[in-house]
Amino acid sequence: MIKLNERSHICQGLMRINNMTDSEVDDLIKFDLENNINFFDTADIYDNGNSERKLGNFIKNNPTLRNKMFIQTKCGIKESELGKKYDLSYEYIIDCCKQSLARLNLEQIDSFLLHRLDPLMDAQEVYKAYKYLKDNKMIRYLGVSNFTTNAINYLLDNKVEIITNQIQVGLGQTNILDEIIAFNNSDGIYSSTTDMLFYLKNKNIELQSWSPFQYKFFKGSIFKVPEMTNCMAKISELAKKYNTCNGSIVTSFLLTIYNKTYVIIGDVKKERILESKNGENVKLSREDFYSLYQSANNILY
Ligand SMILES: NC(=O)c1ccc[n+]([C@@H]2O[C@H](COP(=O)([O-])OP(=O)(O)OC[C@H]3O[C@@H](n4cnc5c(N)ncnc54)[C@H](OP(=O)(O)O)[C@@H]3O)[C@@H](O)[C@H]2O)c1
Repeated sequence: MIKLNERSHICQGLMRINNMTDSEVDDLIKFDLENNINFFDTADIYDNGNSERKLGNFIKNNPTLRNKMFIQTKCGIKESELGKKYDLSYEYIIDCCKQSLARLNLEQIDSFLLHRLDPLMDAQEVYKAYKYLKDNKMIRYLGVSNFTTNAINYLLDNKVEIITNQIQVGLGQTNILDEIIAFNNSDGIYSSTTDMLFYLKNKNIELQSWSPFQYKFFKGSIFKVPEMTNCMAKISELAKKYNTCNGSIVTSFLLTIYNKTYVIIGDVKKERILESKNGENVKLSREDFYSLYQSANNILY
Protein backbone atom coordinates (compact mmCIF):
# COMPACT_ATOMS: atom_id res chain seq x y z
CA MET A 1 0.00 0.00 0.00
CA ILE A 2 1.44 3.39 -1.04
CA LYS A 3 1.59 5.96 1.77
CA LEU A 4 0.52 9.53 0.96
CA ASN A 5 4.08 10.82 1.07
CA GLU A 6 5.31 8.00 -1.17
CA ARG A 7 3.25 9.15 -4.15
CA SER A 8 5.03 10.58 -7.17
CA HIS A 9 4.38 14.31 -7.56
CA ILE A 10 3.50 13.62 -11.19
CA CYS A 11 0.23 11.74 -11.45
CA GLN A 12 -0.98 9.94 -14.58
CA GLY A 13 -4.43 11.25 -15.49
CA LEU A 14 -6.61 8.74 -17.31
CA MET A 15 -9.21 11.02 -18.86
CA ARG A 16 -7.82 10.65 -22.38
CA ILE A 17 -7.63 6.87 -22.75
CA ASN A 18 -10.95 6.50 -24.66
CA ASN A 19 -9.27 5.25 -27.81
CA MET A 20 -6.74 2.99 -26.13
CA THR A 21 -7.08 -0.80 -26.06
CA ASP A 22 -6.60 -2.76 -22.83
CA SER A 23 -3.17 -3.82 -24.02
CA GLU A 24 -2.15 -0.18 -24.69
CA VAL A 25 -3.39 0.80 -21.22
CA ASP A 26 -1.41 -2.12 -19.78
CA ASP A 27 1.69 -0.82 -21.55
CA LEU A 28 1.07 2.77 -20.39
CA ILE A 29 0.63 1.89 -16.71
CA LYS A 30 3.66 -0.42 -16.69
CA PHE A 31 5.70 2.34 -18.34
CA ASP A 32 4.54 4.81 -15.65
CA LEU A 33 5.45 2.39 -12.85
CA GLU A 34 8.87 1.67 -14.36
CA ASN A 35 9.46 5.42 -14.41
CA ASN A 36 8.40 5.93 -10.80
CA ILE A 37 4.95 7.31 -11.47
CA ASN A 38 2.75 5.45 -8.97
CA PHE A 39 -0.22 7.83 -8.74
CA PHE A 40 -3.24 7.39 -11.09
CA ASP A 41 -6.27 9.65 -11.44
CA THR A 42 -9.61 8.78 -13.01
CA ALA A 43 -13.32 9.56 -12.50
CA ASP A 44 -16.63 7.77 -12.90
CA ILE A 45 -17.63 10.13 -15.71
CA TYR A 46 -14.51 9.70 -17.89
CA ASP A 47 -15.75 7.95 -21.01
CA ASN A 48 -18.92 6.82 -19.17
CA GLY A 49 -17.05 4.67 -16.69
CA ASN A 50 -14.74 3.12 -19.30
CA SER A 51 -11.64 4.85 -17.93
CA GLU A 52 -12.30 3.16 -14.57
CA ARG A 53 -13.13 -0.14 -16.32
CA LYS A 54 -9.84 -0.11 -18.24
CA LEU A 55 -7.90 0.61 -15.06
CA GLY A 56 -9.93 -2.15 -13.38
CA ASN A 57 -8.96 -4.62 -16.11
CA PHE A 58 -5.32 -3.72 -15.56
CA ILE A 59 -5.70 -4.41 -11.84
CA LYS A 60 -7.46 -7.72 -12.48
CA ASN A 61 -4.71 -8.83 -14.86
CA ASN A 62 -1.82 -7.54 -12.70
CA PRO A 63 -2.85 -8.19 -9.08
CA THR A 64 0.73 -8.02 -7.81
CA LEU A 65 1.05 -4.43 -9.05
CA ARG A 66 -2.03 -3.12 -7.23
CA ASN A 67 -0.10 -2.36 -4.04
CA LYS A 68 2.48 -0.42 -6.01
CA MET A 69 -0.25 1.98 -7.21
CA PHE A 70 -2.13 4.84 -5.54
CA ILE A 71 -5.55 5.00 -7.19
CA GLN A 72 -7.80 8.03 -7.12
CA THR A 73 -11.27 8.43 -8.58
CA LYS A 74 -14.11 10.94 -8.27
CA CYS A 75 -17.88 11.21 -7.86
CA GLY A 76 -20.54 13.90 -7.82
CA ILE A 77 -21.12 14.79 -11.46
CA LYS A 78 -24.14 13.05 -12.99
CA GLU A 79 -24.22 12.88 -16.75
CA SER A 80 -27.33 11.51 -18.43
CA GLU A 81 -29.64 12.23 -21.35
CA LEU A 82 -31.17 14.90 -19.08
CA GLY A 83 -27.84 16.76 -19.09
CA LYS A 84 -25.29 17.46 -16.38
CA LYS A 85 -26.22 17.68 -12.69
CA TYR A 86 -24.20 17.81 -9.48
CA ASP A 87 -25.04 15.53 -6.57
CA LEU A 88 -23.17 15.27 -3.27
CA SER A 89 -26.00 13.68 -1.31
CA TYR A 90 -25.32 10.79 1.11
CA GLU A 91 -26.99 8.19 -1.10
CA TYR A 92 -25.32 9.34 -4.31
CA ILE A 93 -21.79 9.42 -2.83
CA ILE A 94 -22.14 5.90 -1.44
CA ASP A 95 -23.76 4.50 -4.54
CA CYS A 96 -21.03 6.01 -6.75
CA CYS A 97 -18.30 4.59 -4.55
CA LYS A 98 -19.79 1.08 -4.76
CA GLN A 99 -20.00 1.35 -8.55
CA SER A 100 -16.44 2.68 -8.86
CA LEU A 101 -15.10 -0.14 -6.67
CA ALA A 102 -16.80 -2.68 -8.95
CA ARG A 103 -15.52 -1.06 -12.18
CA LEU A 104 -12.01 -0.71 -10.75
CA ASN A 105 -11.90 -4.29 -9.39
CA LEU A 106 -10.81 -2.88 -6.05
CA GLU A 107 -11.74 -3.57 -2.44
CA GLN A 108 -10.62 -0.11 -1.41
CA ILE A 109 -10.05 3.16 -3.28
CA ASP A 110 -6.96 5.05 -2.10
CA SER A 111 -8.38 8.51 -2.65
CA PHE A 112 -11.99 9.43 -3.45
CA LEU A 113 -12.71 12.99 -4.58
CA LEU A 114 -15.93 14.98 -4.58
CA HIS A 115 -15.55 16.14 -8.18
CA ARG A 116 -17.39 19.46 -8.28
CA LEU A 117 -19.07 21.62 -5.70
CA ASP A 118 -22.81 21.03 -5.36
CA PRO A 119 -24.35 24.20 -3.86
CA LEU A 120 -27.04 21.96 -2.33
CA MET A 121 -24.37 20.02 -0.40
CA ASP A 122 -25.02 19.53 3.31
CA ALA A 123 -21.80 18.94 5.29
CA GLN A 124 -23.41 16.66 7.88
CA GLU A 125 -24.69 14.46 5.09
CA VAL A 126 -21.21 14.35 3.54
CA TYR A 127 -19.80 13.45 6.97
CA LYS A 128 -22.27 10.55 7.25
CA ALA A 129 -21.19 9.29 3.83
CA TYR A 130 -17.50 9.81 4.65
CA LYS A 131 -17.88 7.84 7.91
CA TYR A 132 -19.71 5.02 6.14
CA LEU A 133 -17.03 4.74 3.45
CA LYS A 134 -14.19 4.85 6.00
CA ASP A 135 -15.84 2.47 8.51
CA ASN A 136 -16.48 -0.03 5.74
CA LYS A 137 -12.90 0.38 4.44
CA MET A 138 -14.18 1.36 1.00
CA ILE A 139 -11.84 4.38 0.83
CA ARG A 140 -8.56 5.36 2.50
CA TYR A 141 -8.81 9.12 1.98
CA LEU A 142 -11.35 11.71 0.88
CA GLY A 143 -10.56 14.84 -1.11
CA VAL A 144 -12.36 17.47 -3.15
CA SER A 145 -11.98 19.01 -6.58
CA ASN A 146 -12.89 22.50 -7.78
CA PHE A 147 -13.99 23.49 -4.27
CA THR A 148 -13.89 26.97 -2.74
CA THR A 149 -12.12 27.67 0.57
CA ASN A 150 -15.44 28.24 2.34
CA ALA A 151 -16.84 24.93 1.13
CA ILE A 152 -13.73 23.12 2.38
CA ASN A 153 -14.02 24.88 5.75
CA TYR A 154 -17.68 23.89 5.91
CA LEU A 155 -16.68 20.22 5.51
CA LEU A 156 -13.71 20.43 7.90
CA ASP A 157 -15.90 22.07 10.56
CA ASN A 158 -18.23 19.08 10.25
CA LYS A 159 -15.45 16.53 10.84
CA VAL A 160 -14.91 15.59 7.19
CA GLU A 161 -11.16 15.10 6.70
CA ILE A 162 -9.91 16.40 3.35
CA ILE A 163 -6.46 15.62 1.92
CA THR A 164 -6.56 17.56 -1.32
CA ASN A 165 -8.25 20.09 -3.57
CA GLN A 166 -7.78 19.26 -7.26
CA ILE A 167 -8.15 22.43 -9.31
CA GLN A 168 -6.94 23.68 -12.66
CA VAL A 169 -3.54 25.33 -12.30
CA GLY A 170 -0.90 25.82 -14.95
CA LEU A 171 0.91 28.49 -16.92
CA GLY A 172 -2.30 28.74 -18.98
CA GLN A 173 -4.48 29.09 -15.89
CA THR A 174 -2.81 31.05 -13.10
CA ASN A 175 -5.84 32.17 -11.06
CA ILE A 176 -4.42 30.71 -7.86
CA LEU A 177 -1.42 33.08 -8.14
CA ASP A 178 -3.25 36.03 -9.71
CA GLU A 179 -5.65 36.36 -6.81
CA ILE A 180 -2.71 36.77 -4.42
CA ILE A 181 -0.57 38.98 -6.64
CA ALA A 182 -3.39 41.21 -7.88
CA PHE A 183 -5.14 41.61 -4.54
CA ASN A 184 -5.23 45.27 -3.56
CA ASN A 185 -3.14 46.21 -6.59
CA SER A 186 -5.50 45.76 -9.50
CA ASP A 187 -9.02 47.05 -9.96
CA GLY A 188 -10.48 45.10 -7.10
CA ILE A 189 -11.36 41.97 -9.02
CA TYR A 190 -9.97 39.70 -6.32
CA SER A 191 -11.28 39.64 -2.78
CA SER A 192 -9.13 38.95 0.26
CA THR A 193 -11.17 35.92 1.24
CA THR A 194 -10.67 33.52 -1.67
CA ASP A 195 -6.87 33.12 -1.54
CA MET A 196 -6.83 29.36 -2.20
CA LEU A 197 -3.07 28.79 -2.20
CA PHE A 198 -2.30 30.09 1.29
CA TYR A 199 -5.50 28.54 2.57
CA LEU A 200 -4.27 25.09 1.43
CA LYS A 201 -0.76 25.70 2.77
CA ASN A 202 -2.10 26.78 6.13
CA LYS A 203 -4.45 23.78 6.40
CA ASN A 204 -1.74 21.41 5.16
CA ILE A 205 -4.06 20.30 2.36
CA GLU A 206 -2.31 19.35 -0.86
CA LEU A 207 -2.88 21.02 -4.22
CA GLN A 208 -3.52 18.81 -7.22
CA SER A 209 -3.31 20.67 -10.51
CA TRP A 210 -5.43 19.27 -13.31
CA SER A 211 -4.86 20.06 -17.01
CA PRO A 212 -1.45 21.66 -16.38
CA PHE A 213 -0.84 22.12 -20.11
CA GLN A 214 -4.24 23.54 -21.03
CA TYR A 215 -4.83 27.18 -21.87
CA LYS A 216 -7.75 28.42 -19.75
CA PHE A 217 -10.78 26.10 -19.60
CA PHE A 218 -10.08 23.58 -22.40
CA LYS A 219 -9.06 26.28 -24.93
CA GLY A 220 -6.22 24.11 -26.28
CA SER A 221 -2.67 23.19 -25.36
CA ILE A 222 -0.45 26.07 -24.15
CA PHE A 223 2.10 24.83 -26.67
CA LYS A 224 -0.28 25.62 -29.53
CA VAL A 225 -2.49 28.65 -28.75
CA PRO A 226 -1.26 32.05 -30.03
CA GLU A 227 -1.95 33.70 -26.63
CA MET A 228 0.94 31.72 -25.16
CA THR A 229 3.59 32.50 -27.80
CA ASN A 230 5.69 34.65 -25.43
CA CYS A 231 5.38 32.10 -22.70
CA MET A 232 6.54 29.35 -25.07
CA ALA A 233 9.62 31.41 -25.94
CA LYS A 234 10.41 31.81 -22.23
CA ILE A 235 9.82 28.09 -21.59
CA SER A 236 12.26 27.19 -24.39
CA GLU A 237 14.84 29.70 -23.10
CA LEU A 238 14.64 28.20 -19.60
CA ALA A 239 14.71 24.64 -20.94
CA LYS A 240 18.10 25.48 -22.51
CA LYS A 241 19.32 27.20 -19.35
CA TYR A 242 18.35 24.25 -17.11
CA ASN A 243 19.45 21.69 -19.70
CA THR A 244 16.01 20.11 -19.81
CA CYS A 245 12.84 19.89 -21.94
CA ASN A 246 9.92 22.28 -22.33
CA GLY A 247 7.46 19.97 -20.57
CA SER A 248 9.78 19.75 -17.55
CA ILE A 249 9.80 23.54 -17.18
CA VAL A 250 5.97 23.55 -17.16
CA THR A 251 5.71 20.96 -14.38
CA SER A 252 8.60 22.46 -12.40
CA PHE A 253 6.72 25.79 -12.37
CA LEU A 254 3.83 24.06 -10.61
CA LEU A 255 6.03 22.09 -8.23
CA THR A 256 7.72 25.35 -7.17
CA ILE A 257 4.44 26.85 -5.94
CA TYR A 258 3.99 24.49 -2.99
CA ASN A 259 5.82 21.39 -1.77
CA LYS A 260 2.49 19.58 -1.66
CA THR A 261 1.66 20.08 -5.34
CA TYR A 262 0.73 17.01 -7.37
CA VAL A 263 0.56 17.55 -11.12
CA ILE A 264 -2.14 15.52 -12.91
CA ILE A 265 -0.90 15.08 -16.46
CA GLY A 266 -3.19 13.89 -19.23
CA ASP A 267 -0.80 13.05 -22.04
CA VAL A 268 -0.24 9.36 -22.74
CA LYS A 269 2.74 9.79 -25.08
CA LYS A 270 5.79 8.27 -23.42
CA GLU A 271 8.30 11.01 -24.23
CA ARG A 272 5.90 13.66 -22.91
CA ILE A 273 5.28 11.68 -19.71
CA LEU A 274 9.04 11.58 -19.12
CA GLU A 275 9.33 15.32 -19.81
CA SER A 276 6.66 16.03 -17.21
CA LYS A 277 8.21 13.64 -14.70
CA ASN A 278 11.63 15.23 -15.13
CA GLY A 279 10.19 18.52 -13.87
CA GLU A 280 10.68 17.03 -10.39
CA ASN A 281 14.43 17.46 -10.91
CA VAL A 282 14.37 21.10 -12.05
CA LYS A 283 14.77 23.67 -9.30
CA LEU A 284 13.65 27.00 -10.76
CA SER A 285 15.12 30.13 -9.24
CA ARG A 286 12.66 32.71 -7.87
CA GLU A 287 13.65 35.05 -10.68
CA ASP A 288 12.88 32.46 -13.36
CA PHE A 289 9.64 31.49 -11.64
CA TYR A 290 8.41 35.09 -11.84
CA SER A 291 9.67 35.54 -15.41
CA LEU A 292 7.61 32.53 -16.44
CA TYR A 293 4.57 33.87 -14.62
CA GLN A 294 4.94 37.23 -16.39
CA SER A 295 5.48 35.60 -19.77
CA ALA A 296 2.05 33.97 -19.39
CA ASN A 297 0.39 37.40 -19.83
CA ASN A 298 0.47 38.26 -16.13
CA ILE A 299 1.51 41.47 -14.40
CA LEU A 300 3.62 41.95 -11.30
CA TYR A 301 2.71 45.22 -9.59
N1 LIG B 1 -10.92 17.48 -11.46
C1 LIG B 1 -11.30 17.96 -12.63
O1 LIG B 1 -12.31 18.68 -12.74
C2 LIG B 1 -10.50 17.60 -13.86
C3 LIG B 1 -10.82 18.21 -15.10
C4 LIG B 1 -10.05 17.87 -16.20
C5 LIG B 1 -9.00 16.96 -16.09
N2 LIG B 1 -8.75 16.37 -14.88
C6 LIG B 1 -7.62 15.40 -14.72
O2 LIG B 1 -6.45 16.02 -15.22
C7 LIG B 1 -5.81 15.15 -16.16
C8 LIG B 1 -5.05 15.96 -17.16
O3 LIG B 1 -5.95 16.70 -17.98
P1 LIG B 1 -5.58 17.06 -19.49
O4 LIG B 1 -5.45 15.85 -20.30
O5 LIG B 1 -6.53 18.11 -19.94
O6 LIG B 1 -4.16 17.72 -19.23
P2 LIG B 1 -2.81 18.17 -19.84
O7 LIG B 1 -1.73 17.29 -19.30
O8 LIG B 1 -2.79 19.60 -19.53
O9 LIG B 1 -2.85 17.90 -21.40
C9 LIG B 1 -3.52 18.70 -22.29
C10 LIG B 1 -2.86 18.70 -23.64
O10 LIG B 1 -1.63 19.40 -23.57
C11 LIG B 1 -0.71 18.92 -24.53
N3 LIG B 1 0.52 18.46 -23.85
C12 LIG B 1 0.61 17.85 -22.66
N4 LIG B 1 1.89 17.57 -22.34
C13 LIG B 1 2.63 18.04 -23.36
C14 LIG B 1 4.04 18.08 -23.63
N5 LIG B 1 4.94 17.60 -22.78
N6 LIG B 1 4.44 18.63 -24.78
C15 LIG B 1 3.54 19.14 -25.66
N7 LIG B 1 2.21 19.14 -25.45
C16 LIG B 1 1.77 18.60 -24.31
C17 LIG B 1 -1.42 17.80 -25.26
O11 LIG B 1 -2.09 18.39 -26.38
P3 LIG B 1 -1.93 17.86 -27.88
O12 LIG B 1 -2.21 16.37 -27.81
O13 LIG B 1 -2.98 18.63 -28.63
O14 LIG B 1 -0.55 18.16 -28.32
C18 LIG B 1 -2.43 17.35 -24.23
O15 LIG B 1 -3.49 16.64 -24.82
C19 LIG B 1 -6.94 14.30 -16.71
O16 LIG B 1 -6.49 13.06 -17.24
C20 LIG B 1 -7.79 14.09 -15.49
O17 LIG B 1 -7.28 13.01 -14.74
C21 LIG B 1 -9.48 16.69 -13.77
